[in-house]
Amino acid sequence: MYIPQSQRYADGRMRYRRCGDSGLRLSEISLGLWKNFGRTVPLSEVEGMIHTAFDCGITCFDLANNYGAPHNGSAEENMGRVMASSMKPHRHEMVISTKAGFDMWEGPYGRGGSRKYLLSSLDESLKRLGLEYVDIFYHHVYDPETPLEETAMALDSAVRQGKALYAGISNYSLKQTRRMTEILKEMKTPFIVNQISYSMLNRWIEKDGLDVWAAENGVGLTVYSPLYQGLLTDKYLAGVPKDSRIGKGDTWLGPDIDSGLKAKLRRLSSLAEKRKEPLSQLALSWILRNSAVASVIIGASSKEQIVENCGCLKAADFSEEELLSIEKILEE
Ligand SMILES: NC(=O)c1ccc[n+]([C@@H]2O[C@H](COP(=O)([O-])OP(=O)(O)OC[C@H]3O[C@@H](n4cnc5c(N)ncnc54)[C@H](OP(=O)(O)O)[C@@H]3O)[C@@H](O)[C@H]2O)c1
Repeated sequence: MYIPQSQRYADGRMRYRRCGDSGLRLSEISLGLWKNFGRTVPLSEVEGMIHTAFDCGITCFDLANNYGAPHNGSAEENMGRVMASSMKPHRHEMVISTKAGFDMWEGPYGRGGSRKYLLSSLDESLKRLGLEYVDIFYHHVYDPETPLEETAMALDSAVRQGKALYAGISNYSLKQTRRMTEILKEMKTPFIVNQISYSMLNRWIEKDGLDVWAAENGVGLTVYSPLYQGLLTDKYLAGVPKDSRIGKGDTWLGPDIDSGLKAKLRRLSSLAEKRKEPLSQLALSWILRNSAVASVIIGASSKEQIVENCGCLKAADFSEEELLSIEKILEE
């Protein structure tokens, strides 16, 4: 029987931030179940990682209908199994999110932003998860073919039907977020968050102005791929390990590793070393310095990675000098 660590909230191992202007506080680190939580991974490993995360004070678990590909839905199924076997008593302590938007099933209703797809998909997700509601239901990606009003109404219905507590969007630009926020505000939907990619190697939200706008307008940002799918760790400094995401060919990022990027990673890693931390922790702390961010969603292939990544919360604040050095490295 799983008994969570009794000190998980008491000793400051995790911090919790309000998501935008909402009353919902998210753990600064969330666990994402995109990869390594589907059908191809033994359930005991999946369960072990979820327990480790919860013991570290992580309360937020991020899913989507298609996670666990090529067996779409299998990450939700596994999360459902873990809930049933050990986590149900802690459901009220957890923020479980899911999404719909990308390709999920064949035919005209298995992708996009239509009311038909979003609400059918949420029903299917709840069945796989074995839950009555999710905490956040996200539209996964902007759909140019569906009027935003229709997508907004679907998110609003999900909440009013009691199937989601809050509504969110993902991968929406500043312009799209601004418009969606206007519509959802008018409908008084508890819309609180945009989930976007952001890291030292991917700063599009800064160029777009989304982070500044989100902070000023009370919309929280949850950040995915904060380690650029693992590149912002020490593991690739000496080459590509066979058992890594890139080594397994489980990502499109392989060709990105040229000599320029390797040099950048080495310089970031030695800066991290001076701070007596691994590169992963430097990269995560750097994201959390941005006050628009409510939570960084890490992925993991082992319990040890989760523990190491949560260790970033013990790191000292960045000095001005360190921030300037990081800027210089990233600009090169
Ligand atoms: N909304 C969206 O469109 C969207 C898109 C993508 C992801 N997401 C969400 O964001 C979550 C995280 O995305 P991500 O998996 O790309 O995040 P990430 O944290 O950038 O990358 C995670 C991967 O990096 C490696 N790693 C993590 N910690 C490590 C450490 N301490 N040392 C060495 N390697 C480490 C592991 O890969 P190895 O297999 O190499 O060990 C791990 O699976 C997803 O699970 C999902 O919930 C959302």
